Amino acid sequence: MYGHRGVPSLASENTIASYETAAKIPGLKWIEIDVAITEDEQLIIIHDDYLDRTTSISGEISDTSYEIIKNASAGYWFDKKFSEEKVLTFSEFIDIANELKLNVNIELKGTTGKNGPKLFKSYVHQLTKLMDRFDSNIEILFSSFNIPLLKTIQEVMPEYPRAVLYEKCAFYEDWRTVLDFCDTKILHLEEIGLTENLVEIIKSEGYTLNVYTVNEKDRANQLFRWGVDGIFTDVAQHLVHLQN
Ligand code: G3P
Ligand code: MG
Repeated sequence: MYGHRGVPSLASENTIASYETAAKIPGLKWIEIDVAITEDEQLIIIHDDYLDRTTSISGEISDTSYEIIKNASAGYWFDKKFSEEKVLTFSEFIDIANELKLNVNIELKGTTGKNGPKLFKSYVHQLTKLMDRFDSNIEILFSSFNIPLLKTIQEVMPEYPRAVLYEKCAFYEDWRTVLDFCDTKILHLEEIGLTENLVEIIKSEGYTLNVYTVNEKDRANQLFRWGVDGIFTDVAQHLVHLQN
């Protein structure tokens, strides 16, 4: 089971508070995070392409410098008591993961917006440079919707496992070829509309299947009964005991 952005039902998503909350849940070993890049080439932990929803400032992340972002609150929007939370750099995050001893699914958000193409190389370079800072006992799983990025990561860091992410609406029949291209058998699929038949096909062909984002106990039980390997949840505090 993966705490999706930490435990975003109890603390502001993708912040220290969210990860510390995850670390306190007995049995929860994994969290998921989202990695983006700023205009001045700093890797940061944030989900959206824009700052507006989860910080006290607005703007497109790939068009805003970290010097500006670092002063924003990343928690006030969620609850006043989290107003001191900041947008973490990937480097700061690594220290926290090492301290909390949490395994990490690093979702590579990639490089969006008009600066995207020029930031791509830097995104890969920064990430590669920093990965060695994780403690060796921390398990890592990369994932991305962005196939060029995932393929590049496979080429430069083949030692880390990787998963291809799909939204239901984009889950075309060529998914096996896409996974093969990224040299992986791990699939992360959206929960909506997922059927027992599809789970059976995926599992019978030897793939690992993790499903996002599952917040209902009955649905989580059903998916585990069908044979999914893991789920991403916003409410790990309620579902952690259900995992395989
Ligand atoms: O990695 C699972 C899930 O986080 C993918 O979607 O939009 O929540 O990053 P999103
Ligand atoms: Mg994500």
